[in-house]
Amino acid sequence: MSIRVAVLGHGVVGSGVAEILLHQKDCIFAQRKEELELAYILDVRSFPDLPYASLFVQDINTILQDESVSVVAECIGGATVAYDLVSACLQAKKSVCTSNKELIATRGNELFAMAKENGVNLLYEACVGGGIPVLRPIQTCFGANNICKVSGILNGTTNYILSRMQETGCKMEEALKEAQQKGYAEAVPTADIEGHDAARKISILASMATGKYVSPFDLPVCGIQNVTAEDLKYASVYDCSVKLIAEFEAENEGAQLSVGPCLVPNSHLLAHVNGVQNAVRVVGDMVGETVFYGPGAGKNPTASAVVSDMITLTNLAPVERIYWSSEPAKISEKEKTADYYVRFSGQSGAKPLSGFENVSFLSDPENQATCAVVVKNTSRSRLEKALADANIGLIARVMA
Ligand code: HSE
Repeated sequence: MSIRVAVLGHGVVGSGVAEILLHQKDCIFAQRKEELELAYILDVRSFPDLPYASLFVQDINTILQDESVSVVAECIGGATVAYDLVSACLQAKKSVCTSNKELIATRGNELFAMAKENGVNLLYEACVGGGIPVLRPIQTCFGANNICKVSGILNGTTNYILSRMQETGCKMEEALKEAQQKGYAEAVPTADIEGHDAARKISILASMATGKYVSPFDLPVCGIQNVTAEDLKYASVYDCSVKLIAEFEAENEGAQLSVGPCLVPNSHLLAHVNGVQNAVRVVGDMVGETVFYGPGAGKNPTASAVVSDMITLTNLAPVERIYWSSEPAKISEKEKTADYYVRFSGQSGAKPLSGFENVSFLSDPENQATCAVVVKNTSRSRLEKALADANIGLIARVMA
């Protein structure tokens, strides 16, 4: 038996999906006893030299009107054109899977409702952690748990950049170029560098954990744009590595969420997650701490997750969905205290920090130009207020 499927977009992920569908045909058939037949690829560009050039179409109506196509994979990205195409497919009663985090994090609510109305399904495993299975396991294997905390390294590009800067001493721009060449970065890489991609992913995880919608616009987001080679050096003086950490914690007052660079002690598991690898730590009240680890970006790992969703969609009863309610989750306004690393200049030494009890110098205290310190047990806002007249290079939480 063969099930006809279509792919929207032939970029890094879309081309990976097409190749896996063609090259792994026997593997998929051996497991599922049915063939996934790639019927169409939608792209505005044409690729005449490809062996499957005849599958390209430029008009979505070709796919929408073909009733034999039951599953569509969206690999275009963004939340505008992709939204229109995904809604058109759902309304045409085709199940959809997507690797598009921006779409699910910002417009998932509308699309889930649309899928439900039309008796089809929408899956999005590839949106978080690239090739790592994490969303489905949270939904299917932790059913007896309240999810208390989800944290980790959720962006492959920034983790690759920080690892390369640490290993080779190269500049951020150079490492970004490599990440782009390897197909890790977003089309507009500021989404990676400034933390928005990680924010979309933690908002998806937090929405799944709470069962209510957490918007990526409702959390404090800072990327790695201000991290310098100096910060990496000072962090290592403190026996830490610098990582971009996304976090969700369920608290009585509501959800606590953040995305930002952190100093992670080298004794911590996350300090050893390097390159494009991601690690998602999920804490359930019954299971305790679990960690999901693997390639967080890249053509084949991400396409592997998309194709797995396609296979699932061919077998799944349309009622089994992994959706949250559109009701907004309660977000806590309470500010937590922590140890903070801060690098600043433009003040005479660390004078503005004289009101803080526990300050460790990582830079030479005689060097008045740059101060790199760890201030223990403070709130970020208190620190920012004390350093209002200084030129702050970076503030990063030190992970407990
Ligand atoms: N740009 C993303 C990343 C791709 O680097 O993690 C995978 O979601």
